[in-house]
Amino acid sequence: MKISFLECTRCGEHLPADHPQTICPKDGGVLFVHYDLGSLRGKLRREDLSGRVASMWRYAEVLPDAAPVTLGEGFTPMLPSREFANVLIKDEGLNPTGSFKARGMSAAVTMARHYGLKKLAAPSAGNAGGALAAYAAAAGIEAHIFMPKDVPLANRMECDFHGARVTLVDGLISDCARMVGERKEKEGWFDVSTLKEPFRVEGKKTMGYEIAEQLEWELPQGIIYPTGGGVGMIGMWKAFDEMEELGWIGSERPKMITVQAAGCAPIVKAWEAGKSSSEMWSGAHTLAAGLRVPKAYGDYLILEILKKSGGTAVAATDEEILAATRHWASVEGIFAAPEGAASLVAYQKLRASGFFSAEDKVVLFNTGTAYKYLDVLEAQQKKEQLAAPATRNIGGIIGPF
Ligand SMILES: Cc1ncc(COP(=O)(O)O)c(C=O)c1O
Ligand SMILES: [Zn+2]
Repeated sequence: MKISFLECTRCGEHLPADHPQTICPKDGGVLFVHYDLGSLRGKLRREDLSGRVASMWRYAEVLPDAAPVTLGEGFTPMLPSREFANVLIKDEGLNPTGSFKARGMSAAVTMARHYGLKKLAAPSAGNAGGALAAYAAAAGIEAHIFMPKDVPLANRMECDFHGARVTLVDGLISDCARMVGERKEKEGWFDVSTLKEPFRVEGKKTMGYEIAEQLEWELPQGIIYPTGGGVGMIGMWKAFDEMEELGWIGSERPKMITVQAAGCAPIVKAWEAGKSSSEMWSGAHTLAAGLRVPKAYGDYLILEILKKSGGTAVAATDEEILAATRHWASVEGIFAAPEGAASLVAYQKLRASGFFSAEDKVVLFNTGTAYKYLDVLEAQQKKEQLAAPATRNIGGIIGPF
């Protein structure tokens, strides 16, 4: 649908969307897209969605009015857990490029092409870079990606094969972001960093629409979301408000739960201290590469959502994450990215503490597929085998015959 205006989430300033915008020029606030949803109320009904394309573009009326750059992202399965009666696993590993980053990049690249932009740049913890590379390739646009040098192998390979220009950085995503910031003007790059343009949120918000549609318009009691930059959480919360405006749901909201890696948990720390913004986490380390975000640009939005929703923030150690990855794979048949498996750790903790009961319906996000982390998992497996030989299922090689 036609965009009415962009609005700053800090000061409320309105900006036009007829040309590319980044952040609020006054205070650097994140910009949200606004549509005239009131005019759709009663006209666009929930039933109208049935039979539409099985991708996030089925919600076209609440997405920008531009020809989509699509690879079939979204409308991923909502799988009932085999282990817990009221748990559902939203499996984002089935997206193009193997993670939920596809949604945000499909929307951002769609608008980049719409505006006639020719060169995009982004810092990435790994999967966002891969997704940008793929969508930029599909749109015939240049992608310049800055990633930590130790990202999973799959992320480097996909960016290379999709034809992106990759710079590997001896540092973290925050260092990569600084480099994009320093060079973008001179190079003529448009910066599609997390929350520094308004459309990745638009793509990721479709997860909120899908949860509602797939649960027959009754939102769950909780949603557990592995949080780095937090775009998915911010997007889903926006989607709930939009659906209420459309008359599709009421005022009820799920408790929104952030899970982070214990080795990089700035939102958990800020939440526990009752703060409304986070501090840069020093010495960030975790094998869940996507959660290695020492300072989220939209931290104030994430913390506000946790508060408003009655949610909370939980940290998971790498050991817990690895055990959960193996557990989900062997119990659910889902080979999850470590970031996704962190959702299971959070759920287990929140059940043990009584935050959730067995009756609460809770959606756990698996944000990506483990196939993108084979090198990370193999390195871990080797360590485990050295510590305790022959504890795993793979025997020796037999032959040659
Ligand atoms: C698999 C996976 N899960 C979760 C995240 C965190 O996502 P967000 O930055 O939107 O919070 C990332 C980010 O790279 C990721 O790749
Ligand atoms: Zn502002």
